[in-house]
Amino acid sequence: MSLRFRLLLSFTSVVIVSVILFVLSSYLLSVAVTGDVRSLNNFYKIHYSLHPLSEEEESLFLDLKYLAKNDPEQLKNMQLLEKYNTDLKMEKAALVVRVNDSILYAAPSLSSVDFPFILPEYDMRNNVIRNTLNAGSRFFSYSKFDFYFSSETKEKGSIFVIHERSPFAQVIRRMLPILIGLFAVILLLTGFLLYRYVTRKIIKPLDQLRRSAEHIKDGDLTFELKAASKDEVGQLVQTFDQMRQRLYESIQLQLHYEENRKQLISNISHDLRTPITTIKGYAEGIRDGVTNTEEKLNKYVSAIHTRASDMERLVNELLYFSKLDLKKEPFSFQKLELSAFLYNTADDMSIEFHNQHVDVTWENMPEQPLFVLADREKLKRVLINLFDNCLKYMNQPPKCITIAVNHDEDDVVIAITDNGPGIPEEAIPHIFERFYRVEPSRNQTVAGGSGLGLAIAQQIIEGHGGKIRASSELGRGTSISFTLKRVR
Ligand SMILES: Nc1ncnc2c1ncn2[C@@H]1O[C@H](COP(=O)(O)OP(=O)(O)OP(=O)(O)O)[C@@H](O)[C@H]1O
Ligand SMILES: [Mg+2]
Repeated sequence: MSLRFRLLLSFTSVVIVSVILFVLSSYLLSVAVTGDVRSLNNFYKIHYSLHPLSEEEESLFLDLKYLAKNDPEQLKNMQLLEKYNTDLKMEKAALVVRVNDSILYAAPSLSSVDFPFILPEYDMRNNVIRNTLNAGSRFFSYSKFDFYFSSETKEKGSIFVIHERSPFAQVIRRMLPILIGLFAVILLLTGFLLYRYVTRKIIKPLDQLRRSAEHIKDGDLTFELKAASKDEVGQLVQTFDQMRQRLYESIQLQLHYEENRKQLISNISHDLRTPITTIKGYAEGIRDGVTNTEEKLNKYVSAIHTRASDMERLVNELLYFSKLDLKKEPFSFQKLELSAFLYNTADDMSIEFHNQHVDVTWENMPEQPLFVLADREKLKRVLINLFDNCLKYMNQPPKCITIAVNHDEDDVVIAITDNGPGIPEEAIPHIFERFYRVEPSRNQTVAGGSGLGLAIAQQIIEGHGGKIRASSELGRGTSISFTLKRVR
């Protein structure tokens, strides 16, 4: 059974049960008000006019009617009328007899009622013998019979058996069917609206979820779900969509890794093949006797040595990077005084700076000792990689490197800025990827390097819990900055 059908069923049963309960309670109420158990019989009758009298009253009325038909003169006998009235009184009814336009007899209990004006017209065919009438605020139901006292004189007469009713009970009885109808309509309408609301709020989102799940099953992870509400169902939809998004991202990442892996193998092969080919060429030269002089031999051997060293360096870098990447390289953190550490590292590079006529400027160096938590060797490696890049890519004088230190309560930001050629905007997001080089030919002679320097720097800084970022402007220079945690 579908949820939709179940809901419809439950709403319908709520409506039916409510109507039954309403009818029952209305009946009990009407019994309580009128004290008349037989009112059940009258329950569905719109008007007293159908049953104005009780059975006993009706039988007395029939007796009177019989007299009117067969011996009408008897109805002028006041004693007889009195007797009938007494009988009727037992039943809480009363007798009224009319002769022509005047009242011959009216029960004493009705003495205050102005009957000549309120009684209906004569209707000698007796088409309507049961009806109701109002006298001021009082309300009566009656049965009446019109007759001639004698066919010659055409003297007209009427007998009325009248029963006073409570107007409240009357109103209830009159209104009850309308009320029940109205109640049922309101209930139905409410049920329908509720059903629509629940369908919209629950069934529709569930339907959406099912469709999305089907898309996922078929491998389509781009199908987006939008939560229409913030309630539990909306939250479920939202969480489901987040799950889809994560799944999508992780698959994309997987594909990206796969692509990276392929790229890595291709890069390694390329970067290793070039020096190997060169080494092979020089070795063949030696074997074939090209190096016929000492000088030539030395040149060949030293070229082989250089290429082998390049290869060694590349393999070492790669190994180091992969250890960092796999989190297999342990960090030994210690408290470092930053200024001294930076001055020392720059000092180690001073020969290279001097050879390439590079000016080093210091900016914002703290006057008080500033301590950071760092792995000395690894942090030095980061700085050397950054200085290396500056030296390698700055291609025209004046060459200038700025080292700036900024700090707040928790972090220190170190920025190494050069005035070299800069990095194209579209390349900036990629320079921290392994093997990525802006100059795509992978021709190491243009500006030697395997594209691992910044990738290693990023791994190390992230290992310190910091962040590294680059900003650059073509033709103006490049700035690489990274954060470290302060210690006090
Ligand atoms: N200061 C800089 N000025 C201009 N370009 C830079 C600078 N620093 C990095 N780059 C660009 O970013 C790329 C990646 O730098 P990275 O240090 O990772 O590799 P690499 O220098 O080519 O090789 P490696 O550092 O492994 O010898 C470089 O190839 C270069 O194109
Ligand atoms: Mg580099």
